[in-house]
Amino acid sequence: MKPTSLLATAIALITAMPAIAENNTFDINMKKAGAPIQSTMYGIFFEDINYAADGGLYAELVKNRSFEFPNALQGWKIFGNVEVRNDGPFERNPHYVRLSDPGHAHKHTGLDNEGFFGIGIKKGETYRFSVWARADRPVTLRVELVNTASMDENHFVCQQSLTVNSREWKKYQVTLRPSETLDKSTLRIFMETRDGASVDLEHISLFPTDTWKGREGGLRKDLAQALADLHPGIFRFPGGCIVEGTDLDTRYNWKNTVGPVENRPLNENRWEYTFPHRFYPDYFQSYGLGFYEFFQLSEDIGAEPLPILSCGLACQFQNDDINAHVPVDQLDPYIQDALDLIEFANGPVTSTWGKVRADMGHPEPFNLKYIGIGNEQWDALYPEHLEPFIKAIRKAYPSIKIVGSSGPNSEGDQFDYLWPEMKRLGADLVDEHFYRPYEWFLSQGTRYDNYDRKGPKVFAGEYACHASGKKWNHYYASLLEAAFMTDLERNADIVHMATYAPLFAHVEGWQWRPDLIWYDNLNSFRTVSWYVQQLYSLYKGDNVAGLTMNGKPVAGQDGQNGLFASAVREGNLLYIKVANTSDKEQQLTFNFNGLKKKAVMKASKRIDLSSDKLYEDNSIEAPVNIIPVEKKFDGQGQSIRADINPYSFSIFVLTTE
Ligand code: AHR
Repeated sequence: MKPTSLLATAIALITAMPAIAENNTFDINMKKAGAPIQSTMYGIFFEDINYAADGGLYAELVKNRSFEFPNALQGWKIFGNVEVRNDGPFERNPHYVRLSDPGHAHKHTGLDNEGFFGIGIKKGETYRFSVWARADRPVTLRVELVNTASMDENHFVCQQSLTVNSREWKKYQVTLRPSETLDKSTLRIFMETRDGASVDLEHISLFPTDTWKGREGGLRKDLAQALADLHPGIFRFPGGCIVEGTDLDTRYNWKNTVGPVENRPLNENRWEYTFPHRFYPDYFQSYGLGFYEFFQLSEDIGAEPLPILSCGLACQFQNDDINAHVPVDQLDPYIQDALDLIEFANGPVTSTWGKVRADMGHPEPFNLKYIGIGNEQWDALYPEHLEPFIKAIRKAYPSIKIVGSSGPNSEGDQFDYLWPEMKRLGADLVDEHFYRPYEWFLSQGTRYDNYDRKGPKVFAGEYACHASGKKWNHYYASLLEAAFMTDLERNADIVHMATYAPLFAHVEGWQWRPDLIWYDNLNSFRTVSWYVQQLYSLYKGDNVAGLTMNGKPVAGQDGQNGLFASAVREGNLLYIKVANTSDKEQQLTFNFNGLKKKAVMKASKRIDLSSDKLYEDNSIEAPVNIIPVEKKFDGQGQSIRADINPYSFSIFVLTTE
């Protein structure tokens, strides 16, 4: 090759390189391990919003199974001779249906259930149909899953017969094996026996047999697995606003969610009507997924349970009238609910509530350590209501840690008022919420650096990056969450818990987005934000390692080229997390300070989350459109170089020799 063409090639190569690569030197303190990182640091927040419980994690496929919706037949289509009655066997769910002879040989009596946006079924899997029933003389029912949209000869994809032969209420069940996969089938029950017969049916239920941990009446496996795969350290439940209630009658009352499912009373779901532009008139809480199941799931996935209870204030967004709330001098039943919950979780089997837990199958305590009182509350009303709870809980259970709230906003008057109030009252942690736009996330890299280290710890209890205007899941928002989380991590001495919110959303039933995990009736996918959360959990570390650039935390500050970074140690491993929020590739030099003279750091691997599809995410159709990729990372010494793509997040894994 002639020298001139060599020069031309070199010029071509230089111009083909990405926009100017910057040099950024990070100083990492290897001499002294920093603050310990709590096991609770990264966790999950569950709320029954977006059909997260019924129609989501709770694997029940029948909607309004106990005929307790205000319209007793909502979700059902009846044919022939069907009557709704209300003297059934379950005191708190008294409604049931009586099916009788249709009165003509060519007519039929029965009913169809539409499920939640249809009933999703898979060929090759089995489904357990169960019903409480009674009849004066044997009555045979035909139970089917049907595809009413099919042009085939038969609508049904499976059928079973079931004979009710008891005069007393009894539970019957049969197994259904669909011959096809359908995302929107219908459950159909036909009465086959005629001759003037009738049969009573109550609590009509259909579950996949293949649930999470194979539990009968359990959780949808793919969704529970998506939680387990996050390796959460803390599990906050049951919300969110749902804790408070639009009025006190509809607050989340944990006592209604334990004991046999047949007798757990229905509750209205506030997300039914919160947004009239996305209105869901069939959104109720069956409480099939209740506090026992939440504790059990915490145990399954290795997370500390963190229940949040009503403080006697109905949702303040929805109630201006002071009379909507419980007066402070009438709070005793609410305080008792909190004390009883601790007994339910931790009490001996001989205690009243410990016995309820044991009777449900868990004689061992759940070892509850945290409780939250109140969600997004504000004004003097909140501290006034919280104080008697704190006094009573401290007296009865001094080791339980209490979580208070700083209200719905990440800053502002109420935030500034409530934090000192939480300190005054001695809350152990303060729950902060921030659903904020890009600019906010980019500006909060040093948020916790100057928090008072002597007061309560921080629980970043609900957060997600929302674009301005239309809100949806997309890569860029997740990248900014990753960037912001370096601040949580660097301040792990004061930030003890963080949970993204909300967790789940049905693609046909959402009220709020973005969300961490999406699903339809058959499939689910994990968003890029889910992967960010998972990466932080997997590389959580044991102790913070000091990391600076020109003596300052790397937090998107002036002169830092849009970089955010933090480092943690775990045994002889070092994890460096770097988010590059700029549109340029950046060169990084890691200087490992404080190592012994001959000691070196060895690069082991890197995990890159990188994409140029800033406004895309994963989806049902493309569930792994954007996911982290593990790559080689070479080098050793007291200083190691690396580069990082524009708009990307990387974790560098190194070992000390
Ligand atoms: O996560 C959705 C809602 O956001 C929660 O219910 C509430 O606490 C917050 O306003």
